[in-house]
Amino acid sequence: MLALCVSISQNKKKIKNPLSLSLFFFLPGNTKWSPKRGWIWNQFFVLEEHIGPDAQYVGKLHSNSDKGDGSVRYILSGEGAGSIFIINEVTGDIHATESLDRERKAHYVLHAQAFDRNTEKPLEPKSEFIIKVQDINDNAPKFPDGPFVAAVPEMSQVGTSVYQVTASDADDPTYGNSARVVYSILQGQPYFSIDPKTGVIRTALANMDREAREHYAVVIQAKDMAGSVGGLSGSTTINITLTDVNDNPPKFPQKNYQLYVPESAQVGKPVGKIKANDEDLGVNAAIKYSIINSEGAAMFSIATDRDTREGIISLKKPLNYERKKTYTLHIEGVNTHVEPRFSYLGPFKDTATLKITVGDVDEPPVFSMDYYIMDVYENARIGTEVGAVTARDPDSKNSPVRYFINLSEHGDKYFNIDMDSGVIKTTQSLDREDMPWHNITVMASEVDNPSLLSHVPVTVQVLDVNDNPPEIKTDEVVVCESSRPGQVIQTIAAVDKDDFANGQRFSFSLLSGIPVNPNFTLKDNEDNTASIIARRRRFSRLVQELYELPIVVWDGGEPALSGTSTLTLQVCPCQWNGKVQTCQDERGLLSSAGLSTGALIAILLCIVILLGRCCLSGEGYGR
Ligand SMILES: *[C@@H]1O[C@H](CO)[C@@H](O)[C@H](O)[C@H]1NC(C)=O
Ligand SMILES: *[C@@H]1O[C@H](CO)[C@@H](O)[C@H](O)[C@H]1NC(C)=O
Repeated sequence: MLALCVSISQNKKKIKNPLSLSLFFFLPGNTKWSPKRGWIWNQFFVLEEHIGPDAQYVGKLHSNSDKGDGSVRYILSGEGAGSIFIINEVTGDIHATESLDRERKAHYVLHAQAFDRNTEKPLEPKSEFIIKVQDINDNAPKFPDGPFVAAVPEMSQVGTSVYQVTASDADDPTYGNSARVVYSILQGQPYFSIDPKTGVIRTALANMDREAREHYAVVIQAKDMAGSVGGLSGSTTINITLTDVNDNPPKFPQKNYQLYVPESAQVGKPVGKIKANDEDLGVNAAIKYSIINSEGAAMFSIATDRDTREGIISLKKPLNYERKKTYTLHIEGVNTHVEPRFSYLGPFKDTATLKITVGDVDEPPVFSMDYYIMDVYENARIGTEVGAVTARDPDSKNSPVRYFINLSEHGDKYFNIDMDSGVIKTTQSLDREDMPWHNITVMASEVDNPSLLSHVPVTVQVLDVNDNPPEIKTDEVVVCESSRPGQVIQTIAAVDKDDFANGQRFSFSLLSGIPVNPNFTLKDNEDNTASIIARRRRFSRLVQELYELPIVVWDGGEPALSGTSTLTLQVCPCQWNGKVQTCQDERGLLSSAGLSTGALIAILLCIVILLGRCCLSGEGYGR
């Protein structure tokens, strides 16, 4: 029976393993066979990193058949057999010839056999066993991925966790303390601390201020052998940055500022800037400005430029040096992003006073009104005064003012202006019926500085004078052949180009000074109309188709004007109800042939004359 024999020096007890191999176990660091470790029947142990002149003894193979007479030959095969591990064929002693590294190869699988030296027959079946390489602390802890970067908000509470480091140790973690690592801080105190077991880095100092110091290089050491003297160590650096919190209020560098703004500054446009500084970053430095006194806020506004964090001061209303020469603005800058937990560091605002001095600027003349409305009667003689404009220099030196009419608008065609007095006069007789309004532009400039011009619109209304006679509106009158005396043939009305503010009032009559018309008369209805009335019956188209009736119409003007219109009355056959039967049709036909009314009348007259002759001759002949 082949055995890996283990002999214990203390008790020399001989124990058989299940594989019938006895194993001699050599405990590292101990010159004696040790019983302290339990038997592992198929294992040898060999100490790694053995240095020394002699090969390291590993153990001994022993067969029960071995009587010690040298007839047994031990053979070793498997991993490292014959090279790393050599066996004494006679004694069964195994030695390791090389220094081994557990971290490279932790165990070797080998096979043992015992032969009869004489017969070369195996005395035992082949047995497998393992040589384990025993760990020594030959590896230092390492931080493979360092250096590291971490961040923690400034002003964090003491003990705030920042980062966790983990060192690795290649030594056997299951045996001894070679891989048992303890962390300590080499650099970074008193700001940070590290938990020796977990490697968690925490803040160790209250009120760490980013604005005072932002970056910390913390050096951490990991030491094995549980940190004891003689342990191996490795270190790494953690670059810790304090991140910003809003722990600083905005601050104006000065308490008092001055700004000069010319009175000509445009409303709505920026006139100046102001800036409060904030040591914080980003949103923690975001600021909003406002003008907190009503006098300042009434005239100026302040907006915040998000990028530059400046307060942009703009004008709200026009400045007037002659009225007010200085303004005081109380400007407040407030952080927009305040964290309640830091409110004890507040208030997160600051104020400054801005004194604005208004600058005098030579301004153009100012008219007494924004626009002028004047009037003048039509037909007024040339040179009639229409009105006057006035403008004055608003500046303190009060320069004299000169007036002009804008030539480009042809305003000068009808009017001129007295350069010194601003009095506007007509240069033409005006016709209301032609142009009821004249819109002109008057300019004013200062004698001292003619380049400063002001404009004002002037509207001149032309007032009416009764200079147009009235006219009859109607021009076609039809007389039914069946008309009887007293019958109203048509009601007529009148028009007048003049403008009667209270409505137009017309009166009508037949032209006087001629014999009384036996055929028609006129009745003034006293409601601005008149009626043409028949005085006899039996009008006949065949006898006389057209009659002329001169009518005089008077307007209600002061003095009244009259116009005479001669109406042409056409005789037509009518239906029993007074409706014209045929005249209209014939005339319409002729009109549509493209003949003017004049031509039409001429043709009709010809026909009448021809018919008249024919009839007359016929009558005469008949008599
Ligand atoms: C002139 O002004 C009057 C009153 O403002 C206006 O009714 C009229 O249309 C204007 N005429 C012209 C030609 O602009
Ligand atoms: C009146 O009618 C008759 C008959 O048609 C005519 O001769 C006469 O000239 C007319 N008178 C006037 C004033 O039209």
